[in-house]
Amino acid sequence: MTDLPHFQLNQAVPSPVPSPAVLAALATRRSAPAQALAAPGPSDSQLDAILQLGARTPDHGKLFPWRFVVLGPRSRAEIAEKLAVLAEARDKPAKDQAVLAKLTAAPVTVLVVSTPVPDAKPIWEQQLSAGAVCMNLEHAAGGFGFSSSWITDWYSYDPQATALFGLTEGETVAGFIHIGTLTEPALERPRPDMAAKVTRLP
Ligand SMILES: Cc1cc2nc3c(=O)[nH]c(=O)nc-3n(C[C@H](O)[C@H](O)[C@H](O)COP(=O)(O)O)c2cc1C
Repeated sequence: MTDLPHFQLNQAVPSPVPSPAVLAALATRRSAPAQALAAPGPSDSQLDAILQLGARTPDHGKLFPWRFVVLGPRSRAEIAEKLAVLAEARDKPAKDQAVLAKLTAAPVTVLVVSTPVPDAKPIWEQQLSAGAVCMNLEHAAGGFGFSSSWITDWYSYDPQATALFGLTEGETVAGFIHIGTLTEPALERPRPDMAAKVTRLP
């Protein structure tokens, strides 16, 4: 299952073929509540494949303007403790303490860091690429039968907090992708009225 196709530079990559399985996966994908994600999570080799698939994402200029931090249970627990102290020192509302439970619940978490290259392609485009990586990680996790959750929360926007995850100047959290297994299926959420979202030009 972790035997992914591999291509040499400039080798022809097969064109898409109709795949009901891919369409069904897209039609049924649904984020998990992060705090409900339980074991089993991906094995080391499955996680390697998920990361490799996540990195197979368009980016303008071949800059690869993102990186991954794989967070296991111990590092997350240690960081969550420090975040709790930070939240207290900042006199943050109780809900900011409560959301820390989402950070530590899943078997594994991949932090996607946006690392835009200055004076290259527009920063916005580089950030979009990091977002696309997050989505591809979720698709790849789904391909292995895992549920996932894309979370940011307050600690993604606090420089003292992001430093705990090793982020440096100019780097931004694109998302924490929590991966694991749901014991109960997620419930459908509102979906947009497509007529209001689609403009068709002749
Ligand atoms: C960039 C980004 C950040 C998010 N941050 C949070 C968050 O901090 N807390 C939260 O509960 N949900 C957050 N979400 C929303 C969850 O991922 C949510 O479960 C998801 O949008 C549900 O959509 P789906 O059913 O299509 O998977 C975030 C989503 C995105 C795209």
